[in-house]
Amino acid sequence: MTNRIPLIAGNWKMNLDHMQAIALIQKLCWTLNDADHDYRAVEVAVFPPFTDLRSAQTLIDAEKFEIALGAQDISRHDSGAFTGEVSGAFLAKLACKFVLIGHSERRQCHSENNEVVQAKVAAAWKHGLVPIICVGETLEELETQGQSAVPVAQTIAALSGHETFGEFVIAYEPVWAIGTGKVATPQEAEDVSKAIRKAITEHFGAESGQSRILYGGSVKANNVAGFLASGEVDGVLVGGASLDAEEFAGISRFQKHIVL
Ligand code: PGA
Repeated sequence: MTNRIPLIAGNWKMNLDHMQAIALIQKLCWTLNDADHDYRAVEVAVFPPFTDLRSAQTLIDAEKFEIALGAQDISRHDSGAFTGEVSGAFLAKLACKFVLIGHSERRQCHSENNEVVQAKVAAAWKHGLVPIICVGETLEELETQGQSAVPVAQTIAALSGHETFGEFVIAYEPVWAIGTGKVATPQEAEDVSKAIRKAITEHFGAESGQSRILYGGSVKANNVAGFLASGEVDGVLVGGASLDAEEFAGISRFQKHIVL
């Protein structure tokens, strides 16, 4: 057993407008509240598009819902002539706790390399946000370099060269498992998490080594328990299945599927 509180994170990607966001968050929180979900035992967070964040924040605040809010990206800059970018200062004002950084879709479609990811991690910490740093190998990298090499290297790059350190979360998402229905086995997720944790501990010390490491890639209510049973994986980053309130509530309540 560890002291790390599991984190269930729902990455909505470019889905749902602000009205739909309100409906989904209401349904999700009512479902979890009906089930007496203990948010201090299992943290639950949603990552809507930027345009939904103000509505989500207002709803969560008014209803005293206990889910956390996060953004899907952050600018490396604080303010200024950066058309289309969103500052971490604005996200902090909207009560975002987390921000996703370096999701494989941003690495692939928006040319985000390790240097950009590292700068965005610094921006998150500067504005008091917890970065969820996404790492993972493509199918080709899996075949040529094995499973751990790329995620470990991406993790070290994202965390290197910072003058000050803050809280962070790593999300291991094999690119070949995202949105494909292909899932890593619990053993594979466990092995890569262990390799990432070992590398973090060696490079950045024991305290950083206690950071949460999530698995992501085609997680559903019916496979989540396998990933979280061992205690090596501290939560999940969920894409498609987070758009359905009942399914995501079922994932958040994974403990009921684990027979201890
Ligand atoms: P998926 O996406 O659950 O739809 O595979 C995961 C992610 O991209 O974070």
